[in-house]
Order: sequence, then structure tokens, then C-alpha cells
Amino acid sequence: MLMRGYHIAVVGATGAAGTELLRVLERRNFPVASLRAIGSARSVGKSVSFRDESIRVEKLADQSFDKIDIAFFSAGSDVSRDYVPIACQSDAIAIDKSSAFRMDPHVPLVVPEINAEDLRRHRGLIANPNCTTTVMLMALYPLHRAFAVRRVFAASFQAVSGSGARGVEELKQQIRQAAREPGSTIPATVYPHPIAFNLLPHIDSFLQSGYTKEEAKMQEEARKIMHLPELCVSATCVRVPVYRAHSVAVSAEFERQVSIEQAREVLSKATGLELADEPQSNHYPMPLSVAGKDNCQVGRLRVDCAFENGLSFWVSGDQLLKGAALNAVQIAELL
Ligand SMILES: NC(=O)c1ccc[n+]([C@@H]2O[C@H](COP(=O)([O-])OP(=O)(O)OC[C@H]3O[C@@H](n4cnc5c(N)ncnc54)[C@H](OP(=O)(O)O)[C@@H]3O)[C@@H](O)[C@H]2O)c1
Repeated sequence: MLMRGYHIAVVGATGAAGTELLRVLERRNFPVASLRAIGSARSVGKSVSFRDESIRVEKLADQSFDKIDIAFFSAGSDVSRDYVPIACQSDAIAIDKSSAFRMDPHVPLVVPEINAEDLRRHRGLIANPNCTTTVMLMALYPLHRAFAVRRVFAASFQAVSGSGARGVEELKQQIRQAAREPGSTIPATVYPHPIAFNLLPHIDSFLQSGYTKEEAKMQEEARKIMHLPELCVSATCVRVPVYRAHSVAVSAEFERQVSIEQAREVLSKATGLELADEPQSNHYPMPLSVAGKDNCQVGRLRVDCAFENGLSFWVSGDQLLKGAALNAVQIAELL
């Protein structure tokens, strides 16, 4: 690779989010001078492809960040906690997709379409938000700018690829087994119950409050990204037997009265978002419509019948792209 550009390290290059990141760097023609693909000891000997080249995966080590300009992390919070500081000490800028540093007040948590200006105060580390929160905010934030959001109720429908490559494999195996032996007990390892033909109202661990950590992130991260420290977001996060792309049903209350026409106008102009709202012709956002696409989609707009100044809507987005790889590369582009 003789191109001029940046020396890049991808930690977690063999995983679901890391694989997607390599594809996004390629197709957005990010100026990559050299690329180091990093995984665990399990991946040593494997290779990943980048721009028609086969790159051998290296085992993560303290020296992995020597002469690296930008290090993307998607290998889980424990790895980030241990190795992001090492990357920063080596003068690399770290863009972290895990939750390890998201709520650190010194670390910007950035969705470029919403709070790109927060990047200016980075100290070598930028956090990429939770994927479900990002998909919800892609539609909620433009509405907030226009009508000032007061509080939010949300229910998420999250794809198995949100649990990484293992989640996808578990759903595939369970579907195969159910077809082979209908009515048999389906073994589950990644999730506490079968995910095929089922819904699991349980993502991440339960907190004392009764909410899960994933649900708490929807409030905490929305507050930080939108600069609304008092915002209340009551969420129920559900894992669904969908391979790719998360969806969120949102009911939001605003300070100002919202009309459907105004909401449509606002949403149709928002960057990174498409309005898919022609229910009479069965046109609304769905995981299958947004999988593999950069833009999120919003639809099913209606005046909410329970809230004053309320609007209900449904938003879908590819969580491996806007919720992870695309958002991380957009951050790098802005830097
Ligand atoms: N999946 C999503 O939709 C999504 C969205 C937003 C954020 N994220 C975040 O991205 C991260 C990875 O998620 P994923 O879905 O891509 O998981 P995944 O498919 O399970 O991939 C995990 C990656 O991390 C690597 N890894 C694990 N332990 C390691 C270690 N000790 N040292 C070095 N590398 C190690 C794995 O390498 P080996 O192959 O060698 O094991 C693999 O490349 C998580 O923090 C997750 O929260 C994921």
C-alpha cells in the first residue's frame, strides 16, 4: 500500500463491526497509507481483505499502536479499557465503539449529524455511541431542533448482529434445527433463551431500577449527545430474530405543538435520514429496507394520542453502519 494518508489500526478487525469498518474505509476512499488488522490470539494466522490485498491479522499487543495515526476499537469494553490508553500514549487518536469511555465527561460522544462540534474538545479519544441510541436520535434530534423535546418513550427491536458474529450464527443454527426437527428444544448459548421465533425483552444486564443497561444507555447517551442533561427517555429494548438493522418505536412529547406536515418537512431535510412514510402503499421503514444502507429511515408518523404536543414514529437503521462502522469513519473524516 503506497497511498499517501493515515496509518490505521483496526482492533477487532475480524468481528462484525470491524469487518464492516474495513468495507466502509474502502468505499468512502478514506486515505489509508497502511492498515494493521488486529484481533485476539484466536485470529493469528487468519487474514482480512482490504482493497484487493490480503492483510494478516496480528495479535493485540502494547506495540500494536507504534506509528499509528488512528486506531479504531471494536473488540469490546474490556479490550478498550486496557488498550485505548496505550494507543493514546503512542499518539494515535482512538475512536472507540465500545461503551467503556462513553460517559467519561472528558470524552466526546459523537454522532456527526448531531454534535460534530464536540469533536473540537477531544483529547485523543472519541467514543462512538450505542447503536440503538444513534438510530433513535437520527430522527429525534431534527424534531428536537424544531419542537424542543420534553420526554420520550421508546421500544427497540434489535437485530442479532448487534451481539456480533456469534449472535448471527446462533439464529442461523436455531432456524436450521427448527426446520430439521420441528418442536424440538432449541439450545441457546449466546442468549438466555432461543432467539429464533422468539422475542427477548432483555439486552445486557438488569439494573436495580428494573431497566437493563442497554435501556439506561438510551437515556444517558441521548442526554450527552443532545446536550439535554434532564431529558427522560424510558426505553424497553428487545432482541428480535432479525439478522441486521435495528428499529425503534418512539413516542415523544415536545414543548411546541407538532403537526404532521411540519414534522415531515423537518425529517425530509435531515442529513443521513430518509422519510419512508406512505402507509397506504405499505411503504414504511423495515430492517430489510435499510440493511446495508448508510441512511436511516423514518416513517409511521402520527400525532400521539396520549401526549400533549406528542408525535409517534418508527425509525430503522443499519446498526453495523450508522450504529458502528459508518459513524466511526465519519468521525475520522471530520478529524
Ligand atoms: N455489532 C454491532 O452492531 C455493534 C454496534 C455498535 C458497537 N459495537 C461494539 O463493537 C464491539 C465489537 O462488537 P462486534 O459485534 O463486532 O463483536 P464480534 O463480532 O464478536 O467481534 C469481536 C472482535 O473483537 C476481537 N477481540 C475479542 N477479544 C479480543 C482480545 N482480547 N484481543 C483482541 N481482539 C479481541 C475479536 O477477535 P477474534 O476474532 O480474534 O476473537 C473480534 O475481532 C463491541 O464493543 C460492541 O459493543 C457493535
